Amino acid sequence: IPAPTPEDKFSFGLWTIGYVGRDPFGEATRPAMDPVHALERLAELGAYGVNFHDDDLIPFGADDATRGQILDRFRQGLAQTGLVVTTATTNLFSHPVFKDGAFTSNNREVRRFALRKVMRNLDLAAELGAQTYVCWGGREGAEHGASKDVASALDRYREAFDVLGEYVVDQGYDLRFAIEPKPNEPRGDILLPTVGHALAFIETLERPELVGLNPEVGHEEMAGLNAAHGYAQAMWQGKLFHIDLNGQHGPRFDQDLRFGAGNVRGAFWVVDTLLSGGYDGPVHFDYKPSRTEDEHGVWATAQACMTNYLVLREKARAFRADPEVQAALEKAELPELARPTLAEGETWRSLAGDPAPDVEALGARDTGLEVLDQLALEHLYGVR
Ligand code: GCO
Ligand code: MN
Ligand code: MN
Ligand code: MN
Repeated sequence: IPAPTPEDKFSFGLWTIGYVGRDPFGEATRPAMDPVHALERLAELGAYGVNFHDDDLIPFGADDATRGQILDRFRQGLAQTGLVVTTATTNLFSHPVFKDGAFTSNNREVRRFALRKVMRNLDLAAELGAQTYVCWGGREGAEHGASKDVASALDRYREAFDVLGEYVVDQGYDLRFAIEPKPNEPRGDILLPTVGHALAFIETLERPELVGLNPEVGHEEMAGLNAAHGYAQAMWQGKLFHIDLNGQHGPRFDQDLRFGAGNVRGAFWVVDTLLSGGYDGPVHFDYKPSRTEDEHGVWATAQACMTNYLVLREKARAFRADPEVQAALEKAELPELARPTLAEGETWRSLAGDPAPDVEALGARDTGLEVLDQLALEHLYGVR
Protein backbone atom coordinates (compact mmCIF):
# COMPACT_ATOMS: atom_id res chain seq x y z
CA ILE A 1 0.00 0.00 0.00
CA PRO A 2 1.47 3.37 -0.97
CA ALA A 3 1.89 5.88 1.86
CA PRO A 4 -0.50 8.87 1.77
CA THR A 5 0.95 12.06 0.30
CA PRO A 6 -0.46 15.60 0.11
CA GLU A 7 -1.26 14.93 -3.60
CA ASP A 8 -3.94 12.51 -2.40
CA LYS A 9 -5.65 15.53 -0.78
CA PHE A 10 -6.65 13.77 2.43
CA SER A 11 -8.17 16.03 5.05
CA PHE A 12 -9.51 15.67 8.58
CA GLY A 13 -11.72 17.74 10.84
CA LEU A 14 -10.23 18.83 14.15
CA TRP A 15 -13.37 17.33 15.73
CA THR A 16 -12.60 13.88 14.28
CA ILE A 17 -9.16 13.08 15.65
CA GLY A 18 -10.04 15.44 18.51
CA TYR A 19 -13.17 13.48 19.50
CA VAL A 20 -12.78 12.85 23.22
CA GLY A 21 -15.26 9.97 23.31
CA ARG A 22 -18.22 11.65 24.98
CA ASP A 23 -21.49 9.95 24.01
CA PRO A 24 -25.08 10.07 25.33
CA PHE A 25 -24.20 7.41 27.93
CA GLY A 26 -20.64 8.16 28.91
CA GLU A 27 -18.07 10.79 29.69
CA ALA A 28 -14.94 11.57 27.71
CA THR A 29 -12.39 8.76 27.63
CA ARG A 30 -9.58 10.91 26.18
CA PRO A 31 -8.24 14.36 27.05
CA ALA A 32 -8.83 17.27 24.67
CA MET A 33 -6.26 17.40 21.87
CA ASP A 34 -4.24 20.51 21.22
CA PRO A 35 -5.11 21.71 17.67
CA VAL A 36 -1.49 22.49 16.80
CA HIS A 37 -0.42 19.03 17.95
CA ALA A 38 -3.17 17.69 15.67
CA LEU A 39 -1.75 19.64 12.72
CA GLU A 40 1.74 18.25 13.37
CA ARG A 41 0.60 14.64 13.58
CA LEU A 42 -1.66 14.94 10.53
CA ALA A 43 1.17 16.38 8.48
CA GLU A 44 3.49 13.57 9.59
CA LEU A 45 0.93 11.02 8.45
CA GLY A 46 0.77 12.58 4.97
CA ALA A 47 -2.49 14.50 5.18
CA TYR A 48 -3.10 17.55 2.99
CA GLY A 49 -5.74 19.52 4.79
CA VAL A 50 -7.62 20.27 7.93
CA ASN A 51 -10.94 21.84 8.81
CA PHE A 52 -12.84 22.86 11.88
CA HIS A 53 -15.97 24.22 13.49
CA ASP A 54 -15.46 27.68 14.98
CA ASP A 55 -15.79 26.19 18.48
CA ASP A 56 -13.28 23.37 17.80
CA LEU A 57 -10.60 26.03 17.72
CA ILE A 58 -11.97 28.94 19.70
CA PRO A 59 -14.06 28.01 22.76
CA PHE A 60 -17.64 29.30 22.60
CA GLY A 61 -17.80 32.74 24.16
CA ALA A 62 -14.00 33.31 24.27
CA ASP A 63 -13.03 37.00 24.50
CA ASP A 64 -11.22 38.74 21.63
CA ALA A 65 -7.78 38.53 23.26
CA THR A 66 -8.05 34.76 23.79
CA ARG A 67 -9.41 34.33 20.26
CA GLY A 68 -6.48 36.30 18.84
CA GLN A 69 -3.90 34.24 20.73
CA ILE A 70 -5.41 30.94 19.67
CA LEU A 71 -5.58 32.03 16.04
CA ASP A 72 -2.00 33.31 15.98
CA ARG A 73 -0.76 29.97 17.23
CA PHE A 74 -2.96 28.06 14.78
CA ARG A 75 -1.75 30.16 11.83
CA GLN A 76 1.84 29.41 12.86
CA GLY A 77 1.00 25.70 13.04
CA LEU A 78 -0.44 25.85 9.52
CA ALA A 79 2.62 27.63 8.20
CA GLN A 80 4.97 25.14 9.86
CA THR A 81 3.15 22.02 8.72
CA GLY A 82 2.03 23.24 5.29
CA LEU A 83 -1.47 21.93 5.93
CA VAL A 84 -4.25 23.64 3.96
CA VAL A 85 -7.54 24.77 5.51
CA THR A 86 -9.93 23.14 3.04
CA THR A 87 -13.27 23.97 4.62
CA ALA A 88 -14.70 25.51 7.74
CA THR A 89 -18.06 25.21 9.44
CA THR A 90 -20.09 26.54 12.36
CA ASN A 91 -21.05 24.73 15.51
CA LEU A 92 -24.79 25.43 15.59
CA PHE A 93 -25.61 22.41 17.72
CA SER A 94 -23.66 22.13 21.02
CA HIS A 95 -24.74 25.12 23.06
CA PRO A 96 -28.21 24.87 24.66
CA VAL A 97 -29.23 28.03 22.80
CA PHE A 98 -29.52 25.81 19.69
CA LYS A 99 -31.65 23.12 21.34
CA ASP A 100 -34.55 23.79 18.96
CA GLY A 101 -32.46 24.61 15.92
CA ALA A 102 -30.38 27.51 14.66
CA PHE A 103 -31.46 28.82 11.23
CA THR A 104 -34.88 27.24 11.80
CA SER A 105 -35.35 27.72 15.53
CA ASN A 106 -38.84 28.94 16.36
CA ASN A 107 -37.10 31.70 18.32
CA ARG A 108 -36.16 34.66 16.13
CA GLU A 109 -33.38 35.88 18.43
CA VAL A 110 -31.72 32.48 18.18
CA ARG A 111 -31.96 32.60 14.37
CA ARG A 112 -30.33 36.04 14.27
CA PHE A 113 -27.59 34.90 16.67
CA ALA A 114 -26.94 31.82 14.52
CA LEU A 115 -26.50 33.93 11.39
CA ARG A 116 -24.09 36.25 13.20
CA LYS A 117 -22.07 33.26 14.42
CA VAL A 118 -21.78 31.94 10.86
CA MET A 119 -20.84 35.34 9.44
CA ARG A 120 -18.05 35.72 11.97
CA ASN A 121 -16.61 32.33 11.08
CA LEU A 122 -17.01 33.01 7.35
CA ASP A 123 -14.58 35.89 7.86
CA LEU A 124 -12.08 33.49 9.43
CA ALA A 125 -12.69 30.83 6.77
CA ALA A 126 -11.99 33.35 4.00
CA GLU A 127 -8.90 34.64 5.76
CA LEU A 128 -7.48 31.12 6.15
CA GLY A 129 -8.19 30.35 2.48
CA ALA A 130 -10.99 27.81 2.87
CA GLN A 131 -13.00 27.47 -0.34
CA THR A 132 -15.96 25.57 0.99
CA TYR A 133 -18.16 26.31 3.95
CA VAL A 134 -19.94 23.23 5.27
CA CYS A 135 -23.44 23.54 6.72
CA TRP A 136 -24.61 20.57 8.72
CA GLY A 137 -27.98 21.43 10.22
CA GLY A 138 -27.92 18.84 12.96
CA ARG A 139 -30.37 20.65 15.23
CA GLU A 140 -32.68 21.83 12.43
CA GLY A 141 -35.53 19.42 13.01
CA ALA A 142 -38.05 18.11 15.47
CA GLU A 143 -39.18 15.32 17.75
CA HIS A 144 -42.77 16.45 18.12
CA GLY A 145 -45.45 16.69 15.43
CA ALA A 146 -46.74 20.20 15.98
CA SER A 147 -43.47 21.67 17.24
CA LYS A 148 -42.18 22.63 13.81
CA ASP A 149 -44.11 24.14 10.94
CA VAL A 150 -42.02 22.56 8.21
CA ALA A 151 -43.01 25.06 5.51
CA SER A 152 -42.11 28.04 7.73
CA ALA A 153 -38.92 26.31 8.82
CA LEU A 154 -37.92 25.80 5.19
CA ASP A 155 -38.72 29.47 4.51
CA ARG A 156 -36.32 30.41 7.31
CA TYR A 157 -33.73 27.88 6.10
CA ARG A 158 -33.89 29.44 2.64
CA GLU A 159 -33.74 32.93 4.12
CA ALA A 160 -30.56 31.96 6.00
CA PHE A 161 -28.79 30.78 2.84
CA ASP A 162 -29.97 33.86 0.93
CA VAL A 163 -28.62 36.18 3.63
CA LEU A 164 -25.32 34.28 3.91
CA GLY A 165 -24.96 34.13 0.13
CA GLU A 166 -25.38 37.88 -0.03
CA TYR A 167 -22.83 38.29 2.77
CA VAL A 168 -20.22 36.24 0.92
CA VAL A 169 -20.82 38.14 -2.33
CA ASP A 170 -20.76 41.56 -0.63
CA GLN A 171 -17.51 40.69 1.17
CA GLY A 172 -15.97 39.39 -2.05
CA TYR A 173 -15.17 36.00 -0.52
CA ASP A 174 -14.27 33.08 -2.77
CA LEU A 175 -16.43 30.67 -0.77
CA ARG A 176 -19.25 28.29 -1.60
CA PHE A 177 -21.58 26.53 0.81
CA ALA A 178 -21.98 22.77 1.06
CA ILE A 179 -25.08 21.41 2.78
CA GLU A 180 -24.56 18.14 4.62
CA PRO A 181 -27.76 16.08 4.77
CA LYS A 182 -28.56 13.71 7.62
CA PRO A 183 -31.85 11.94 8.36
CA ASN A 184 -31.80 12.00 12.16
CA GLU A 185 -29.58 12.40 15.24
CA PRO A 186 -29.34 14.55 17.24
CA ARG A 187 -32.93 15.48 16.25
CA GLY A 188 -35.56 12.79 15.83
CA ASP A 189 -36.08 14.04 12.28
CA ILE A 190 -33.70 16.52 10.65
CA LEU A 191 -34.73 18.88 7.84
CA LEU A 192 -33.00 18.27 4.48
CA PRO A 193 -32.54 14.60 5.47
CA THR A 194 -31.00 13.26 2.25
CA VAL A 195 -28.98 14.32 -0.79
CA GLY A 196 -32.20 14.47 -2.79
CA HIS A 197 -34.02 16.76 -0.37
CA ALA A 198 -31.02 19.12 -0.27
CA LEU A 199 -30.63 19.20 -4.08
CA ALA A 200 -34.27 20.19 -4.47
CA PHE A 201 -33.99 22.83 -1.72
CA ILE A 202 -30.94 24.46 -3.33
CA GLU A 203 -32.92 25.22 -6.48
CA THR A 204 -35.25 27.47 -4.44
CA LEU A 205 -32.40 29.77 -3.32
CA GLU A 206 -31.55 33.24 -4.63
CA ARG A 207 -28.02 32.12 -5.49
CA PRO A 208 -28.20 28.38 -6.13
CA GLU A 209 -24.77 28.50 -7.78
CA LEU A 210 -23.20 29.27 -4.39
CA VAL A 211 -24.65 26.21 -2.70
CA GLY A 212 -23.87 22.53 -3.20
CA LEU A 213 -23.54 19.39 -1.13
CA ASN A 214 -21.25 17.67 1.34
CA PRO A 215 -22.75 14.18 1.46
CA GLU A 216 -21.57 11.87 4.24
CA VAL A 217 -21.44 8.15 3.44
CA GLY A 218 -22.87 7.12 6.82
CA HIS A 219 -25.74 9.60 6.71
CA GLU A 220 -27.07 8.31 3.40
CA GLU A 221 -26.73 4.74 4.69
CA MET A 222 -28.59 5.64 7.90
CA ALA A 223 -31.48 6.48 5.57
CA GLY A 224 -31.09 3.10 3.87
CA LEU A 225 -29.84 4.76 0.70
CA ASN A 226 -27.04 3.93 -1.70
CA ALA A 227 -24.35 6.51 -0.87
CA ALA A 228 -22.54 6.04 -4.20
CA HIS A 229 -25.74 6.89 -6.07
CA GLY A 230 -26.11 10.04 -3.97
CA TYR A 231 -22.56 11.12 -4.84
CA ALA A 232 -23.19 10.29 -8.50
CA GLN A 233 -26.34 12.41 -8.69
CA ALA A 234 -24.69 15.29 -6.85
CA MET A 235 -21.85 15.20 -9.42
CA TRP A 236 -24.33 14.91 -12.28
CA GLN A 237 -25.95 18.12 -11.05
CA GLY A 238 -22.59 19.87 -10.57
CA LYS A 239 -23.21 20.00 -6.83
CA LEU A 240 -20.58 17.76 -5.24
CA PHE A 241 -18.64 20.54 -3.50
CA HIS A 242 -17.13 18.36 -0.75
CA ILE A 243 -17.31 14.83 0.70
CA ASP A 244 -17.45 13.33 4.21
CA LEU A 245 -16.15 9.77 4.07
CA ASN A 246 -16.73 7.36 6.93
CA GLY A 247 -18.32 4.00 7.72
CA GLN A 248 -21.75 2.84 8.88
CA HIS A 249 -23.59 -0.45 9.39
CA GLY A 250 -26.99 0.31 7.89
CA PRO A 251 -29.92 2.13 9.49
CA ARG A 252 -29.06 2.69 13.14
CA PHE A 253 -27.39 5.45 15.18
CA ASP A 254 -24.71 7.51 13.42
CA GLN A 255 -21.62 5.37 13.84
CA ASP A 256 -19.05 7.63 12.16
CA LEU A 257 -16.71 4.64 11.79
CA ARG A 258 -13.35 5.09 10.13
CA PHE A 259 -13.66 5.03 6.33
CA GLY A 260 -13.64 1.49 4.95
CA ALA A 261 -15.08 -0.04 8.11
CA GLY A 262 -18.83 -0.64 8.10
CA ASN A 263 -20.31 -1.26 4.66
CA VAL A 264 -17.14 -2.22 2.79
CA ARG A 265 -18.86 -3.02 -0.48
CA GLY A 266 -20.60 0.37 -0.37
CA ALA A 267 -17.24 2.05 0.27
CA PHE A 268 -15.80 0.37 -2.83
CA TRP A 269 -18.59 1.79 -4.99
CA VAL A 270 -18.26 5.23 -3.41
CA VAL A 271 -14.56 5.34 -4.35
CA ASP A 272 -15.27 3.97 -7.82
CA THR A 273 -18.00 6.59 -8.30
CA LEU A 274 -15.77 9.47 -7.17
CA LEU A 275 -13.01 8.31 -9.53
CA SER A 276 -15.33 7.77 -12.51
CA GLY A 277 -17.06 11.11 -11.90
CA GLY A 278 -13.76 13.00 -11.73
CA TYR A 279 -14.25 14.38 -8.21
CA ASP A 280 -11.05 16.31 -7.50
CA GLY A 281 -11.78 18.11 -4.23
CA PRO A 282 -10.40 17.23 -0.80
CA VAL A 283 -10.87 13.62 0.29
CA HIS A 284 -12.21 14.37 3.72
CA PHE A 285 -12.78 11.93 6.55
CA ASP A 286 -15.50 12.68 9.07
CA TYR A 287 -15.38 9.88 11.58
CA LYS A 288 -15.06 9.36 15.29
CA PRO A 289 -12.22 7.19 16.62
CA SER A 290 -13.82 4.68 18.99
CA ARG A 291 -13.93 5.84 22.61
CA THR A 292 -12.18 2.58 23.52
CA GLU A 293 -8.91 4.02 22.16
CA ASP A 294 -6.24 6.29 23.60
CA GLU A 295 -4.37 8.78 21.41
CA HIS A 296 -2.29 6.03 19.88
CA GLY A 297 -5.52 4.43 18.65
CA VAL A 298 -6.72 7.77 17.31
CA TRP A 299 -3.72 8.07 14.98
CA ALA A 300 -4.08 4.44 13.98
CA THR A 301 -7.62 5.21 12.79
CA ALA A 302 -6.57 8.37 10.94
CA GLN A 303 -3.94 6.35 9.12
CA ALA A 304 -6.49 3.58 8.50
CA CYS A 305 -8.93 5.99 6.82
CA MET A 306 -6.23 7.00 4.33
CA THR A 307 -4.95 3.44 3.86
CA ASN A 308 -8.45 2.13 3.21
CA TYR A 309 -9.10 4.86 0.66
CA LEU A 310 -5.82 4.09 -1.14
CA VAL A 311 -6.56 0.35 -1.08
CA LEU A 312 -10.05 0.87 -2.49
CA ARG A 313 -8.71 3.31 -5.08
CA GLU A 314 -6.25 0.66 -6.27
CA LYS A 315 -8.98 -1.95 -6.39
CA ALA A 316 -11.44 0.31 -8.22
CA ARG A 317 -8.79 1.12 -10.82
CA ALA A 318 -7.86 -2.54 -11.23
CA PHE A 319 -11.56 -3.42 -11.58
CA ARG A 320 -12.07 -0.86 -14.36
CA ALA A 321 -8.85 -1.94 -16.15
CA ASP A 322 -9.65 -5.68 -16.05
CA PRO A 323 -10.45 -6.95 -19.60
CA GLU A 324 -12.98 -9.42 -18.17
CA VAL A 325 -14.76 -6.56 -16.45
CA GLN A 326 -14.75 -4.57 -19.66
CA ALA A 327 -16.28 -7.51 -21.50
CA ALA A 328 -18.90 -7.90 -18.76
CA LEU A 329 -19.74 -4.19 -18.95
CA GLU A 330 -20.15 -4.60 -22.70
CA LYS A 331 -22.42 -7.60 -22.22
CA ALA A 332 -24.45 -5.65 -19.66
CA GLU A 333 -24.86 -2.91 -22.31
CA LEU A 334 -23.30 -0.10 -20.26
CA PRO A 335 -21.99 1.59 -23.44
CA GLU A 336 -25.56 1.47 -24.80
CA LEU A 337 -26.91 3.30 -21.74
CA ALA A 338 -24.66 6.21 -22.64
CA ARG A 339 -26.37 6.47 -26.01
CA PRO A 340 -29.47 8.71 -26.23
CA THR A 341 -32.72 6.81 -26.60
CA LEU A 342 -33.78 8.97 -29.52
CA ALA A 343 -31.36 9.61 -32.40
CA GLU A 344 -30.40 13.11 -33.50
CA GLY A 345 -33.45 14.79 -35.05
CA GLU A 346 -35.92 12.18 -33.82
CA THR A 347 -39.00 13.12 -31.76
CA TRP A 348 -41.66 11.10 -30.02
CA ARG A 349 -43.29 10.74 -33.42
CA SER A 350 -40.35 8.67 -34.64
CA LEU A 351 -41.11 6.02 -32.04
CA ALA A 352 -44.43 5.27 -33.71
CA GLY A 353 -42.59 3.88 -36.73
CA ASP A 354 -40.52 1.39 -34.68
CA PRO A 355 -41.10 -2.26 -35.54
CA ALA A 356 -42.55 -4.17 -32.55
CA PRO A 357 -39.62 -5.62 -30.60
CA ASP A 358 -39.55 -9.27 -29.63
CA VAL A 359 -40.48 -8.58 -26.01
CA GLU A 360 -40.27 -12.26 -25.08
CA ALA A 361 -36.70 -12.51 -26.33
CA LEU A 362 -35.79 -9.19 -24.67
CA GLY A 363 -37.36 -10.35 -21.42
CA ALA A 364 -35.35 -13.55 -21.57
CA ARG A 365 -31.99 -11.92 -22.41
CA ASP A 366 -28.90 -12.70 -20.33
CA THR A 367 -27.63 -9.48 -18.75
CA GLY A 368 -24.64 -11.04 -17.02
CA LEU A 369 -25.08 -8.64 -14.10
CA GLU A 370 -24.33 -11.27 -11.46
CA VAL A 371 -21.08 -12.13 -13.22
CA LEU A 372 -20.20 -8.44 -13.38
CA ASP A 373 -20.92 -7.97 -9.68
CA GLN A 374 -18.94 -11.07 -8.76
CA LEU A 375 -15.94 -9.67 -10.65
CA ALA A 376 -16.18 -6.56 -8.48
CA LEU A 377 -16.34 -8.67 -5.32
CA GLU A 378 -13.36 -10.74 -6.40
CA HIS A 379 -11.37 -7.53 -6.89
CA LEU A 380 -12.54 -6.34 -3.50
CA TYR A 381 -11.71 -9.66 -1.83
CA GLY A 382 -8.23 -9.49 -3.37
CA VAL A 383 -8.40 -12.74 -5.35
CA ARG A 384 -8.06 -11.21 -8.81
C1 GCO B 1 -22.39 14.03 11.89
C2 GCO B 1 -21.95 15.18 11.10
C3 GCO B 1 -21.10 16.15 11.67
C4 GCO B 1 -20.77 17.23 10.66
C5 GCO B 1 -19.77 18.13 11.20
C6 GCO B 1 -19.67 19.35 10.33
O1 GCO B 1 -21.65 13.06 12.04
O2 GCO B 1 -23.51 14.04 12.22
O3 GCO B 1 -21.15 14.56 10.14
O4 GCO B 1 -19.93 15.54 12.06
O5 GCO B 1 -20.22 16.74 9.49
O6 GCO B 1 -20.12 18.46 12.49
O7 GCO B 1 -20.57 20.29 10.77
MN1 MN C 1 -22.00 11.26 10.78
MN1 MN D 1 -20.07 14.89 8.46
MN1 MN E 1 -19.52 13.51 11.89
